[in-house]
Amino acid sequence: MKISLTVNGEPREADVWEGESLLFALRERLELPGSKNACEQGECGSCSVLLDGTLVCACLVLAVQAEGHEVVTVEGLARDGALHPVQEAFVEAGAGQCGFCTPGLVVATAALLERSPNPGEDEIREALSGNLCRCTGYQKIFDAVRLAAERA
Ligand code: FES
Ligand code: FES
Repeated sequence: MKISLTVNGEPREADVWEGESLLFALRERLELPGSKNACEQGECGSCSVLLDGTLVCACLVLAVQAEGHEVVTVEGLARDGALHPVQEAFVEAGAGQCGFCTPGLVVATAALLERSPNPGEDEIREALSGNLCRCTGYQKIFDAVRLAAERA
């Protein structure tokens, strides 16, 4: 079946099957591989995208549920070739980790700062609690969130 949606500000269409996830549609139909598939169970946050401005795990959303809605992926954060402030902060703070967790962390941070421009420590930790890294630490990530908030 065909779905129409807005992705990163552009009208897009995709041929999907009824049980297909939004994550699969983004990666395999719409050539947007930035959102990663690390667990496909809603556990890791590597597939985080914004659906009508709300942070969701794209692996838990059916592609057909996005029909008529607006999706922003990590590819859509940069504007006119310039990194999003959150992306800049991740680079400067040395918070860029592997390609699986980093896109989701960046999208989750952008969503946090959109709704709460000056988050407290607990708020930051709560907001990123759904984004798992299995191998390093979170200190530089928290540094990056604070840096992005300071500049916002
Ligand atoms: S791939 Fe969606 S939460 Fe892990
Ligand atoms: S999962 Fe990406 S660095 Fe640990």
